[in-house]
Amino acid sequence: MAKLAILHHPDPRLRATAAQVTSFDADLERFVADLIETLHAAGGIGLAATQTGDLRRVFVMDLSPDRTAPEVYVNPEILQKRALGLVEESCLSVPGVVGNVVRATQVRVRAQDVQGATFERDLEAMHAVCVQHEIDHLDGRLFVDRLSILRRLWLKAWPPKAAKPADRAA
Ligand code: NI
Repeated sequence: MAKLAILHHPDPRLRATAAQVTSFDADLERFVADLIETLHAAGGIGLAATQTGDLRRVFVMDLSPDRTAPEVYVNPEILQKRALGLVEESCLSVPGVVGNVVRATQVRVRAQDVQGATFERDLEAMHAVCVQHEIDHLDGRLFVDRLSILRRLWLKAWPPKAAKPADRAA
């Protein structure tokens, strides 16, 4: 396994749209293992392939208290969104920035595992929010795009200097 470099905003590669995974092979398994290692090393809760410059439609997330239960989502899609709420988010690719974003707090998601088997899962709270944040990454979107115009202007005028990612960043 190898730790991957995490791209930082405004790297243009974060704006690319990821492509559907069609090869469920040893290379994909290795890449997913690297993503998980990178996520755990960074102390985050979610990491999308796009954040490492890879354009496969894959993300990993781990919300377990001891970070020992990584979940893998290949070709994820949200089937249902419910219960909108204002949620505080941060991102490993936008270090030092925390902001409130409107997200569904309940989702039904369909995805494939690393072997290609399709599954559906009902998620809520941080799990639901994290899935939306990571799918945004796969579509070339960052959570800062979803902040209010005033907050974005403020961030532009006073770029944060902090290099350390916020706890529970994704
Ligand atoms: Ni993120």
